[in-house]
Amino acid sequence: MRKINKIACIGAGYVGGPTMAVIAQRNPNIDVTVVDLNAIRIAAWNDADLTKLPIYEPGLDQIVAEARGRNLFFSTDVESAIDQADMIFISVNTPTKTYGKGKGQAADLKFIELCARQIARVATTDKIVVEKSTLPVRTAEALKSILHNTGNNVKFDILSNPEFLAEGTAVSDLQNPDRVLIGGESQEAIQALVNIYATWVPSERIITTNLWSSELSKLVANAFLAQRVSSINAISELCEVTGADVNEVAHAIGMDSRIGSKFLKASVGFGGSCFQKDILNLVYIAKSYGLQEVADYWEQVIIMNDHQKIRFADNIIKTLYNTVNGKNIAFLGWSFKKDTNDTRESAAIYVADHLLDEQATITVYDPKVTAEQIYADLDYLGTRTSEENRKLVKVVNDPYIACQDAHAIAVLTEWDAFKTYNWKLIYENMYKPAFVFDGRNLLDKKQLNEIGFQFYSIGQ
Ligand code: NAI
Repeated sequence: MRKINKIACIGAGYVGGPTMAVIAQRNPNIDVTVVDLNAIRIAAWNDADLTKLPIYEPGLDQIVAEARGRNLFFSTDVESAIDQADMIFISVNTPTKTYGKGKGQAADLKFIELCARQIARVATTDKIVVEKSTLPVRTAEALKSILHNTGNNVKFDILSNPEFLAEGTAVSDLQNPDRVLIGGESQEAIQALVNIYATWVPSERIITTNLWSSELSKLVANAFLAQRVSSINAISELCEVTGADVNEVAHAIGMDSRIGSKFLKASVGFGGSCFQKDILNLVYIAKSYGLQEVADYWEQVIIMNDHQKIRFADNIIKTLYNTVNGKNIAFLGWSFKKDTNDTRESAAIYVADHLLDEQATITVYDPKVTAEQIYADLDYLGTRTSEENRKLVKVVNDPYIACQDAHAIAVLTEWDAFKTYNWKLIYENMYKPAFVFDGRNLLDKKQLNEIGFQFYSIGQ
């Protein structure tokens, strides 16, 4: 049996960091080194102050506290981690391409390829290379080709082990996964990885498949999840014009065990670094095999999601008497969902952009997102100069200040704390009529109406 003593993970991000922390916690006899080119990120992972970890995830600080320095290490020395490891996880980012062929749809695999070339160059002993990043189906073929042509007689086995954790619940998802998926060709290599997970995951939850099923399953899982959100969001628009209530419809259909109740919450739209990128990637793959109908079917999930974000912003403009020019809109929440500081593809960014086009001024409060990140998100769009973004958007660290003298409040993230605010006090300090647009169906409509708010939610 192949014994793994040392693991390296390339990429200390939202996946690499928490995943390796749990693997190290559960396998105290294996040394786990997480490496990244980003020295600031690595320094934050090593910070003695656990509130400074680069990623906010409930419960992560305790796991890092337990394992860090014992058998969990964070470093910028990528080469020596590769050299010493028996098993190397690649957990780098795989964003949508922003240039050249496949621009706007295909996954950009340049970071993956750089990792493979670096592994090929540095390795002097046999390695198991694990694809942890989400990758287009058949990427392992390219990795094999790069790794097998090194000429230094090192044997590489490639496994696919996509990660299914959700941000905001990463630690509990890792501790108690619905399943772990491992695809590969060598039974010995597959077993080596199974053994690592088997220290805490029941064996019936560890599924092994061929490489291509594993790679494709991750894209398909995200496509199915996002499709449910777009499906219920499509119905939310129909509810608004017919008098049906999307919460009631979701409850009624979700009780059918064939449908199930999860992921049926109508909202301003899904965000995050994965859903959009992975569906676009699926669309691109289908197209590249000439499967136009398959591509069109899945692309509609994205089209619906974009529509929902714009529809939300347009409803604010329409309700505020068709102009938001010079009006103050308070944004509660900027992260793409609660319990994370991740803002990638957050609906808030696009709603803000649309309102800023109409010359609104926006004040943002989010419990975990920094002002720097919010401006970076807006600047990245390139819609207006960073000076203009700073002039039109203010970021504050008190929700009551954010809502003071606002014409309207938009709830963009479902942070639990928003529910417990003193809404009467907020109402008193706003312009009247005071509007609330609840993009997450989070707040108590009845309570807010009684206070005097004009309250709008999704699909009601
Ligand atoms: P991330 O952007 O947070 O982290 C990636 C890290 O890799 C960055 O810190 C970057 O500096 C580092 N990196 C890139 N190239 C490198 C290189 N050559 N050498 C060393 N470090 C390098 O990305 P995240 O969110 O962790 O995602 C990683 C992968 O996992 C992606 O393929 C994503 O689709 C997938 N995934 C993400 C999930 C999520 O919830 N964020 C969930 C499941 C999968």
